[in-house]
Amino acid sequence: MRFPTCIVALLCASAASAGLVSEHSSQSVFEPNAQRLVQTAEGITQWISEADKLQLKRSGTRFMDITEFAEEEPITIDVNVTFPSNISFYDVASPLLANISIENMKTNLANFTSFYTRYYKSTTGADSSTWLFNTVKAIAAVDKSIRVFPFHHPWPQTSLIARIPGINSGTPEDRVVVVGAHQDSINLIFPSFFGAPGADDDGSGTVTILETFRTLVSSGFKPNNTVEFHWYSAEEGGLLGSQAIFSEYAKRRINVGAMLQQDMTGFVKKTIDSGKPESLGVITDFVHPELTEFIKKVVSAYASIPYVETECGYACSDHASAAKVGYPSAFVIESTFKDSNPFIHSTRDTIDRLSFEHMLEHAKLTLGFVYELAFANLAGEEE
Ligand code: BES
Ligand code: ZN
Repeated sequence: MRFPTCIVALLCASAASAGLVSEHSSQSVFEPNAQRLVQTAEGITQWISEADKLQLKRSGTRFMDITEFAEEEPITIDVNVTFPSNISFYDVASPLLANISIENMKTNLANFTSFYTRYYKSTTGADSSTWLFNTVKAIAAVDKSIRVFPFHHPWPQTSLIARIPGINSGTPEDRVVVVGAHQDSINLIFPSFFGAPGADDDGSGTVTILETFRTLVSSGFKPNNTVEFHWYSAEEGGLLGSQAIFSEYAKRRINVGAMLQQDMTGFVKKTIDSGKPESLGVITDFVHPELTEFIKKVVSAYASIPYVETECGYACSDHASAAKVGYPSAFVIESTFKDSNPFIHSTRDTIDRLSFEHMLEHAKLTLGFVYELAFANLAGEEE
């Protein structure tokens, strides 16, 4: 058991002597002077203050805050996964595409952006996660087998998991298929004071996967592999929520077969203004190559627009947390990195700048991804 903060002096002393925490006494994300361990590239770490983390982010340096996950022997898992070489379920899955509703995404995003900020340390950030929990729970109510549960953190905003158990659940063949988005937003000037509607980053991904979840559940979807929808807290704090979840999954030896992150799914203006075709941006760096190849096939079959390859850099979103413990993960964004939304992390990341038709394409990709992998034999021949 790890203690994120040193609550009792005795515990701190024994944890430190056991090598669990460093000599840095205070590590709480709530204290500006707290010392946090950040990783800015593979094998490159440094201790900086919580306040300096914000400076690092403002300067455009990407990092994971690994303070709570820096075991001397990190827990990793090697899942045996074989991805399908072809699209196999389009005929059964494609009728569902017409049920994905732009109106639902509009209503949900209007609600989600009405919270002043969804900063993970804020009370409105906590309120927004409660709203999301209630919304997901209401969708899942038609099927008693679906479990919706918050994943609690040392800060007030919770992460959220919705699990659709597969027929394979509890067997060695099960390969959990995960779709993720992050629910928190941030205003980089002064996160605890200024507003952050976070319409694109990542309200768009949140409502994209929410609408895919609703479409599948209302169709009576019964997968072979277990399917999970995740909404992470504290991505903007250095992938904190997703690291907590995936390190817990690795510890519990849960066989995640594939994880797809949807972070920023709605901004197309720069692409269109520069005369380029509207496309889905398939990230090619720091992702699982075979899973990414499979995702390109899903885009070609299920979406009405093409994909374009692009790069995002180290630890750019929550798929990096899945990859860190050994799970195959991938990331699809609204455009090339260069043409992505320039208004994120500010009060100007608003709904009026977004295309819901584009979000629909991301939802179609998500539905195809889930459907194809839910019925594939991902465990391969060796199991
Ligand atoms: N959605 C962004 C990542 C992003 C930005 C992707 C621009 C594509 C284009 C994400 O929420 C974010 O802000 N990530 C942080 C890194 C995180 C680990 C602190 C970033 O980019 O600074
Ligand atoms: Zn962001």
